[in-house]
Amino acid sequence: MDLLWRMKLLYGLVLAVLVLAEGHSEESGCMDWENSDNLKDVCCKKCHPGNRLAHECGPDPMLLCAPCENDTFIDANTDTNRMICRRCYQCTGGGMRVKEKCTASRDTVCGCSQGYRCANDKCSHCLKECGKGEQPAGRGKCEPCPPGMYNDKIHQPCVNWTRCTPDHQIIVPGSSSKDVICGLTPHTEPTAKSDADSMVTVILIIFGLLCVTPVATILILEWRRRKLTHKERKQPGGATQTCGPEEVSFCFPQQEHGSSSQSSVESLLSQSIGPLEA
Ligand SMILES: *[C@@H]1O[C@H](CO)[C@@H](O)[C@H](O)[C@H]1NC(C)=O
Ligand SMILES: *[C@@H]1O[C@H](CO)[C@@H](O)[C@H](O)[C@H]1NC(C)=O
Repeated sequence: MDLLWRMKLLYGLVLAVLVLAEGHSEESGCMDWENSDNLKDVCCKKCHPGNRLAHECGPDPMLLCAPCENDTFIDANTDTNRMICRRCYQCTGGGMRVKEKCTASRDTVCGCSQGYRCANDKCSHCLKECGKGEQPAGRGKCEPCPPGMYNDKIHQPCVNWTRCTPDHQIIVPGSSSKDVICGLTPHTEPTAKSDADSMVTVILIIFGLLCVTPVATILILEWRRRKLTHKERKQPGGATQTCGPEEVSFCFPQQEHGSSSQSSVESLLSQSIGPLEA
């Protein structure tokens, strides 16, 4: 058990040392070589990926190429000088982040963090992302959409609002981040008109009530007064004196009393008759 553990540990250590020694863990040495003129040596035609050419020719092909050291790389596809490893690109600057780490055979691939986007294909730098309702204005700036235009996407130019066709009208107005919504024009344009119609009706009713109520009240009062005086004229003794034409309200209780109970009529009669007896 203890032995097994130690062996495992040793194996791991050896592996780690190997990986570190190889820098970027690429196979080292020459990949493709040919005999040289002096028959003793070979000359390297092509190194393993991530290896720079250390010596053009020599007796051991493994020593002709050396892996690129930490933070350097050589890209066989793009690098013309086979002998120099280049420094890995550092993704620094506003909004930049490492998308893919540098390897011995390929440079770092940079990306942009959230809210930023690459300014070009190579993503050499990042630009602040413009949100909805605004558009890129150059040099990493954003500007709000001009009036009558909108943008409902991230980092896109603003476009004109839709113009409704003649048989359509704007149902929902647009904003800097939303287009207008057009809809079919209703046949009789009823919404606006009927609203106005009902408004007028309401006003007329209120106005009518305001005018009619006092007039009607006066008419009713006048009618009741005339009815009363007419009744009183018929009554013997002529109680009209007790009740002047203006004292309409004062007369009502008397009239109601008179019609319902005999006593008030009798008192009225006795009042008017009284002086005659005396
Ligand atoms: C490579 O560089 C990193 C930091 O960039 C460091 O942590 C690491 O130890 C280096 N490795 C070697 C083998 O030099
Ligand atoms: C946007 O609207 C303006 C004026 O309203 C007009 O001059 C311009 O041509 C329009 N652009 C497009 C792409 O329709």
